[in-house]
Formats: sequence, C-alpha cells, structure tokens
Amino acid sequence: MTQPTSTALQQLVVLIREATGNVIPTARLSFLEEVAQRRAQVTGRGSLEEYVRALAAHQIEGEWGTLVSLVTIKESYFFRAPQQFEVIVRQVLPGLARARAGTRHLRIWSAACARGEEPATLAMLLAEEPSLNGWTWTIVATDLDEEALAGAKLGLYGERAVSQVPPPMLERWFKRRGKLFELDAGLRSRISYQSLNLAHAPFALPFAECDLVLMRNVLIYFRRPLQRWVVSQVAKLLAPEGYLFLGASETLWQIQDELESVDLGPCFAYRHRKPQPAAVPATPPPKRVHRKPPPEPPAEEKPRWNGETPRDWSVSRAATAVAPAPEPPPAAPAGGVQERLLAAARDLAENRIEEARRILDAILAADPSEPAAHALVGFLHDLCGRTEEAVGAYRAALYLDPALFQPRVLLADCLLRLGKRDLAEHQFREVLTLLTSGREKALGLFEGLPLPDRERAQRRCRQVLKGG
Ligand SMILES: C[S@@+](CC[C@H](N)C(=O)[O-])C[C@H]1O[C@@H](n2cnc3c(N)ncnc32)[C@H](O)[C@@H]1O
Repeated sequence: MTQPTSTALQQLVVLIREATGNVIPTARLSFLEEVAQRRAQVTGRGSLEEYVRALAAHQIEGEWGTLVSLVTIKESYFFRAPQQFEVIVRQVLPGLARARAGTRHLRIWSAACARGEEPATLAMLLAEEPSLNGWTWTIVATDLDEEALAGAKLGLYGERAVSQVPPPMLERWFKRRGKLFELDAGLRSRISYQSLNLAHAPFALPFAECDLVLMRNVLIYFRRPLQRWVVSQVAKLLAPEGYLFLGASETLWQIQDELESVDLGPCFAYRHRKPQPAAVPATPPPKRVHRKPPPEPPAEEKPRWNGETPRDWSVSRAATAVAPAPEPPPAAPAGGVQERLLAAARDLAENRIEEARRILDAILAADPSEPAAHALVGFLHDLCGRTEEAVGAYRAALYLDPALFQPRVLLADCLLRLGKRDLAEHQFREVLTLLTSGREKALGLFEGLPLPDRERAQRRCRQVLKGG
C-alpha cells in the first residue's frame, strides 16, 4: 500500500525536480521523507512544512547542496561498462588522434562524474595509451554534487569501486591506505573537477568543443523534455568529429535527432549526423519483418521554455540561462501506475501499439525510473522490429531493477538477433544465475504478452548456451 503523500513532501519533490532535474520515484518517497525530516531537525526547523518553506526561500545556508547530495544516486565504479572503455581505446581514440594530429590535444568531458570513478578510468587509459605519447589532454569532470566532487579530488575509494580495475593497473595507479585505495595524485592532477548542473544552462566548460563526452547514467533520472534539452546543449558542445557515450541502458531514441547512434560493435555511441548526400533515386526499404504493423512515428514534441531565469540555487550559482519548463505528461488513462501498466500490456497484446505507447510515455514522463514501463517499451520496440531500441529499453529496465529476469531474457534474444552472441550469452548466463539464486523478480501479470515464465526462461537459456 502506498502512503498518501503530504503536501510538503510533494512540494519538495517538485523543488528538487526544478532545481536538479531529478525525478524522485514513488518508491523513494518514504526515503526522501525520512531524509527531509532529519534535515528539518538538524537545521532547527520544527516540521517538514517549515523546512520545505525555508528551503524554497533559500533561507538555509548550504542546505540545497547537502540535500542534493543525500537524495541523488551516486552509484559508480571504475571501468563501469568496460565494453565502452574498450571501444574508446580501440576505435574512438585512433579516429580522434587522426582528427587532432594538428594540435595533439584532446578535450574530454565526463558529465555527472559522481566521485570521479569514470574520469579517472579514462585518465588511466589515456596515460597508458602509447599512441598518445607526447600529446596533452584535458579531462573536465563535472557533477552537481559538491560533496561527490570533493570525494573525487580526495581520490580515496573502497574495495567495491576498484573491483573491476585490472590488477596491473590497480598496482600502477593506486596505493593501499588501510581498507581504501588512493588514486595516484599525479593522475588526479590531470583531471579538472568542477561543479555543473545539467538542468540549467550555461554549461561553462574550459573549452568550446569536446572531442569526447561521457554522460552516463544521469539522463535516466530526468524527464524527457529535460533529457532532450540537455542533449541539445551537449550536441552544441560536441566537436564535429566528437563522440558522446551514454549509460549502457540509455538511448536517445525519440529524444532528439541532431546526433545519430553509431554501432561500434559491443556498444553504441552518438555522433553528429552526417550531412545527407544529394538526392539519389531511392532504393525501396527492406521488407519489414514485423509480426504486427509498426506504429506511426510520433509527432515531435516541441520543447517549451518558461523564459524565466532559474532559481538562485546554491549548487548552481553560475546558472544564468533558461531551463526547459516542465511539460504536462501526455494524456493517458487515469489510474495508478499498475493499472496503467496493465492497460498498456493489454494494448500491446491486442496490437494497439499507439495507445500502448501513449500510456507508457505518460508513465515514464511522470516517473522515468519505473522499470516495468521501460520493459514494456522494450517489448513495444521489439514488436515493431526496432531491435536496437528494444535493447536500450530493456537495459533501462534492468538498470533500474537488475533482478527482473524476463526483460533480461528478451534483451538476450535481441542481442542474438543483432549478431552479438557473446553479449547475449552473458545475459543468458546472468538469467540462469539469477534463477538459481532465487533472487529473481518477475514483471507483473501482463496477460496476453508472451513473457517467459521461470521454466521457459531456464529452458531458453540452456538451449542457447548449448549452442542452440
Ligand atoms: C549514477 S551516477 C553516474 C556516475 C557515472 N557517470 C557513471 O556512469 O558511473 C549519477 C550522477 O549524476 C549526478 N547528477 C544528478 N543530477 C545532476 C544534474 N542535474 N547535473 C549534474 N549532475 C547530476 C549525481 O550527483 C550523480 O553523481
């Protein structure tokens, strides 16, 4: 049973979203309430209502920074999504080295860098890359959370954060400090840490163009209009030859079309769209293999602007430009999230793709962290033959709830279809491990959708892993 939410808590959710872009999902409301109550006490406010009022009026010095640090998710570790780093070293750097042979300088931005695990991973790789000997590079690592940035500058990490660092690199770049690992100070000094709030312009970087941008696992916490706006700002800062990497579960599908996704083998990145060649006689599109007809492409939503300067919010004092106004969620049937998910599943089962899409868009517009909605979006793409988009949506579902075994089986099947057998096998093995551990979770009862139950999932995994 969900508890009714107090008005003060609802106001706080809106304030946090306006200031940082982060949507607080329903499942985290009780956590937010607990944190806010504690902060109300610490800051000498008698009640949650008083605390929220004072926060809104910026009457508590430094409080926004503290609160943001407590409520944003800082999950990160070195070599997270290693396939992306492998691709950066093997494919991206050689291309960039050719493009920058004149200046022998690379400009890199790690946006939403948490405690610095991501920029430091890049710094190690660049420092060890023989083809960059004699080159200079700048890595700017930014985050909204000043405390996380202070942690990054300190460079001390626990066992878990460094668990994926290859042992020789751990040896070279870290010193053991009791239970912690200290990142080499020389390497740290090559990274410039600065506060930057992605929810408000301008994005003040020390260079006008970036050759490489890592903006991973942050858009997922934003609503779609803000995602679109952030990406358009980043696109302006991306050099014509540059690359943008998002989190493995994030996609720009339906978000913008300035940048196009490029398939780099084990992962995707985004680049500026190449200019279309002059008109040539069109070849007919390949025959569709949809089981069901594809939906109409959605009408492009126009970003709306409120034209106001953003709040004077202590964490983003530099912000001077407009931020996108929140858009009303797309119209969709009323009811709780579970009811609307069921309605979307029914629509999918009965081939009412457009209706399903509208419901799912509305659910995700209100709460982008609802895993079942992402899973159903994956299913929708899958149904329409958009396998790559389905992969992105299934990954988003699994990022939010790794124990869901059904989206993992569907993801694995998509990867097989895309010819990525290694990645698919990895996912099938994960499903088996999950099912054996008994920690797996199933999606709600979506009648009519061919979601595998535990037995079928197990059979499918074994069949593929045996070479079927
Ligand atoms: C899950 S971590 C991602 C860390 C790293 N990029 C990775 O993929 O491992 C998300 C980070 O986004 C930051 N963040 C959230 N909202 C932000 C905003 N509006 N502007 C900048 N950073 C933000 C959080 O403080 C947090 O450090």
